Order: sequence, then structure tokens, then C-alpha cells
Amino acid sequence: MALHEAPPLTLVVTRRETLCDDIVAFELRLPDGAELPAFEAGAHIDLHLPAADDAPGAIPRRRSYSLCNPPGERGRYLIAVQREATGRGGSAWLHAHLQAGDRIGVSAPRNLFALRPAPRHLLLAGGIGLTPLLAMAEVLWAAGQHFELHICVRSAQRLPFARRLLEAPWSGCVQVHADDADPALDLAALLAQQGADTLAYCCGPAGFMAAVQRAADDAGWPAERVVVEHFAAPPPPAAAAVEPGHFELDWAPTGQRLSVGPTDSVARVLLAAGIELPISCEQGICGQCCLQVVAGEADHRDLVYGTHEHDVERRFTPCCSRAHSPRLSLAPLGWAAPGWTAPG
Ligand code: FES
Repeated sequence: MALHEAPPLTLVVTRRETLCDDIVAFELRLPDGAELPAFEAGAHIDLHLPAADDAPGAIPRRRSYSLCNPPGERGRYLIAVQREATGRGGSAWLHAHLQAGDRIGVSAPRNLFALRPAPRHLLLAGGIGLTPLLAMAEVLWAAGQHFELHICVRSAQRLPFARRLLEAPWSGCVQVHADDADPALDLAALLAQQGADTLAYCCGPAGFMAAVQRAADDAGWPAERVVVEHFAAPPPPAAAAVEPGHFELDWAPTGQRLSVGPTDSVARVLLAAGIELPISCEQGICGQCCLQVVAGEADHRDLVYGTHEHDVERRFTPCCSRAHSPRLSLAPLGWAAPGWTAPG
């Protein structure tokens, strides 16, 4: 059974630009130059890449990248891709193969990192995590809202969009912290200076995100004042690394009964059974694969949903999550069998 998803747009690469070490920007437009679907600050698009190998059944890859041009621009999408030496190959493929003039499938923008109403905004970027915060800075500046943008990079040579940051009308709101030239950003002091009406937005590598979260916890900030976007899942804690073992999986719409082994991904088991499922990050950070729990107790391992989405909306990310119960029944979001009522 296929889950509904709009087919990807076919866009053309109208510009490719090396921004700094290992980071390339791609500008994407419709071939006829028409308007693209609108997006908000913080949104990302999925690029559809070929499968990693030619093996039968190999699944094409999707990779998410934040849009970093001003959201008012309707004619283009701008993304920046950092080549990850230890990644899963998507960024390396883009660096090696995607050139100006090439076409590529792109899913419409989705936003899991939206700006929220607040008098003051503190934007905290670690390296390439700058990209969604650039779009936020554009929107906040245009709206006359107060914000600060702090960017931590290993060296000035690794600062993406250096010229744009320098020339933007909001460049006075930007502070760059380069490890090899500046004193390290004192996150504790920075957060302590903020009023209770400030919201922080944080995007960057796992270590940077953890440092911000620690500083916010130490400063007594409530969790809802720190909005985060992960682009890689942190390593699981040692306790979670122990797989709970085998469980039975029911696909509620058809009654198919499947088996999930200790090291299997639920998403891969569903795909192997012919159940179409959009997957992208396969790390529980994009929400693309989201299903709903019909019955059973889920072991949620994603970073994208909170308690309400897990416990009330019964959302489940099969790319990374598992089951605490011996049997788990799943269905597409919004699916309802005759006479079935969602718990909660
Ligand atoms: S594929 Fe990204 S959360 Fe599952």
C-alpha cells in the first residue's frame, strides 16, 4: 500500500558555488523559471538522490537541506551542502556529481523548525547549522524584530556565506566565533544576559547542540525556550544501544504480519514487504517517515516529536523507533479502521 506523497518537483541547478572548505551552495529553480512552492524560515527540502549502489531492491536516497535564501523569494531555492567524510554518502554524491545545468528531484518544503512569536530571538549556529538561521535572520530583520546571530566555526576559512553575512543589512546583529582566532563563545554568559522573553534557536553538530542545551539547563531556561533542529542524530546512550530484541509488527490497513529482528529497522521491514514509505534521514530527525501507532507500546527514539505527538497523536518514526511490547500495530497517519478510535 502506498502512502500518499506528492511527486517531487524536477528542478534545475542554476548555480553551484564553493563557499568554503567542503561546503558548496546550490541554487535550484524550475526549468521554466516559474514560482516555486512558498516556504517559511526554518524550512527544508528533500533532494532525491540515486541509490547508493546498483543492488536489486536498493532504495533511492533522500537527503534534507535547509533553505537559506530569504523566504520571500519565490523563484529559487538556495541550499548549502557540507561534505561529510563520515556520513552516509549523500553529501559526497552531491559534491561529486551535481553540477550547474543538472536536474534533480526535490520534495516541496516542510518546516519543523519554525520561528515562534517572541519579543527577542537568539540564533545559535554551529558551522553549517547556520543555513536555516540565515532565513530566520532575513525574516526577523524584515519584520523589525530584535535578534542576535552567533556562529561558531573552527576557523574563519570554514565560515559559510561570509560575504553575505558581511554585506547583509543585519550584519550588525551577527557575531562570528572562530575557534582558531577568538575566545570561545561563553554560552553560559550569553544565555545569562538574555531576558525571560528571549527564545533561542539552535542548529549545528551534536556536540554544539549538547553544549547549548547544557548551558540552557544550567541557566534554568525552560525547555520550550530552546528550539532545536538536528541534522545528525547524536550517538545513543549506552543503555539505548542494547537492542530490545525481536517483535511482531502488524500493518493495520492490510493485516500483514511482519517480524522485526533485533537489528532490523521497522522502516526497512515495511519497505521489504512492499509497503511504500517515504524515508529520508533514517535517523529520526526529519519526520518524513511518520506513521501512527494503532496498538502496542512504542519505544520512541526520534528527535523530532515530543510527548504530545507521541502520546496523544500516536506518531511513530519507523526509521529509528522500535517496540517495548511484543507486538506493535502501525498504519499511515490519519488511517482509521471502521469503528476504530484513536486512543487519547
Ligand atoms: S526518515 Fe527521517 S525521521 Fe524517519
